[in-house]
Amino acid sequence: MRLRLLLTLLLAPLAAQAETCEATVGSADTMSFDVRTINVPSSCESFTVHFEHRGRMPKTGMGHNWVLTRATDVEGVAKAGVAAGAARGFVPQGDSRVIAATPLLGGGERASVSFKVGMLAKDDKYTYFCSFPGHWSMMRGTLKLGA
Ligand code: CO
Repeated sequence: MRLRLLLTLLLAPLAAQAETCEATVGSADTMSFDVRTINVPSSCESFTVHFEHRGRMPKTGMGHNWVLTRATDVEGVAKAGVAAGAARGFVPQGDSRVIAATPLLGGGERASVSFKVGMLAKDDKYTYFCSFPGHWSMMRGTLKLGA
């Protein structure tokens, strides 16, 4: 009994912290994310995004990924991603503009990606988008470093 109470006290703050240092983002067979804004607490050391493609279409026709860059880098990274091709999940390899990226997913698949919160600057703007050809201009959201 006493042990259980002690464990509860010890584990509760850890659980609360883990909860705020991650987010789940979904998509389906359309060019949109179900979450348009993500706030990253600056108290998090790293942040994890769980990305789910809840549609049914294959990744060759309606592939989705979750790619994070500075807002000003979206177009450049999207174009470099198209050049990188399907075999690389439409993400340029070794490109320092890419802060985080999941693999390209088809319907029913999911993937998680983590990044160091120290890579984000408070006065900068960040955008996450799908780099599948033709999706980046519509399929995007905003990520902010919070207080
Ligand atoms: Co997509």
